[in-house]
Amino acid sequence: MAILRENPFRPGAGSPPPYLAGRKDAKDALSLRLKYILSRWHPGSDCVLIGPRGNGKTALLGWFKKEVDKSGIRCVFANASSAGTLEQFSIQLLPGSQRLRNRVRQIGATVAGSGAQVALRQAQTVFEQELLGACEKNPLIFLLDEAHKVEREAMRALLNASQRVQAEGHPFLVVLAGTPELEREMRKAGATFWERLEQHGINRLARVEARQALLYPFGLSESHNPRVVNEALDECQDYSFFIQSLGQELWNQNSEEITAGSLSRALEGFSKRKRLFYSRRYKELKDAGAIGLAAQAALAFRGGRVNSLAESNLEKAMGCETPAILRDLGYIWQPLGETRYEPGIPSLMGYVLDELG
Ligand SMILES: Nc1ncnc2c1ncn2[C@@H]1O[C@H](COP(=O)(O)OP(=O)(O)O)[C@@H](O)[C@H]1O
Ligand SMILES: [Mg+2]
Repeated sequence: MAILRENPFRPGAGSPPPYLAGRKDAKDALSLRLKYILSRWHPGSDCVLIGPRGNGKTALLGWFKKEVDKSGIRCVFANASSAGTLEQFSIQLLPGSQRLRNRVRQIGATVAGSGAQVALRQAQTVFEQELLGACEKNPLIFLLDEAHKVEREAMRALLNASQRVQAEGHPFLVVLAGTPELEREMRKAGATFWERLEQHGINRLARVEARQALLYPFGLSESHNPRVVNEALDECQDYSFFIQSLGQELWNQNSEEITAGSLSRALEGFSKRKRLFYSRRYKELKDAGAIGLAAQAALAFRGGRVNSLAESNLEKAMGCETPAILRDLGYIWQPLGETRYEPGIPSLMGYVLDELG
């Protein structure tokens, strides 16, 4: 049997997919902002991509990074898990500023108390001034992934500075990406930080988009073997990460088409991988002390077979307020602009119920 090209599917956090499906609104919004920045206008507002893990926030940021790089505009891409402090923002965005470096160091050197507050405020002011000066000369775009990990004061400083720079008409843009925890964190940071951002929900793909994500890398058309392809996508629940995993298994079958036979062989490996994925998520829920709540929510969603529930019905079924921890972990999710809740990954709910017997 002929060996096909190298497998283009590489499921994994942040790995770019062979074909980035959907996300039209978010891509358009980002492209428009890039256009403004290229014309040296301020973009109007910063953006946030929000959604449970594995849907494609990092992939979308990666796409935008490439677009910005092609344009020649300076673009800084950071991950807040390792760079979520004002010091890190300063190093990445304004590496040449010794004045800022000194100020930021003072925060660390000050013992907690009112002195620390003063040092922090001073550093924030200098950060804003330096950013203003830098963007007046050269446009700058800052992509910040895992933004739910940013320290609260650092987020406040970044967004305030951004607003000031843009209010002065200078080309600077921040694009944040984070899990639903980010919204909660930002609302705690106060003011109107959250409302000021243009928000884009990164959900599971629509079925037509999921179909493209699976078929296009094979060079197959959207109308390819619809019955089998729909069965494959049902197994993936239109979840980006699962589509990449199943795509990889299907590719390994060395068949140029997706057939009932290649699917059934691919599902063997895929089911194992899904179980591993579920067991990790299960452990995460357990470690967070949320497994009981997860089971209650799973019952309310009838093991994931119910697509969505009004909050009042979810609360009635669970006998408590909707638990923030389940939202933070993406176990349940309220797509932006919707009042109803959906399972983050429906099949995970079935797994939780099975595990608890
Ligand atoms: N729009 C998309 N179309 C196809 N595959 C995607 C898409 N977005 C993400 N993926 C794939 O899904 C997986 C998870 O994406 P990732 O960007 O890491 O999610 P998140 O950052 O939201 O946790 C990756 O393997 C990625 O290649
Ligand atoms: Mg990510």
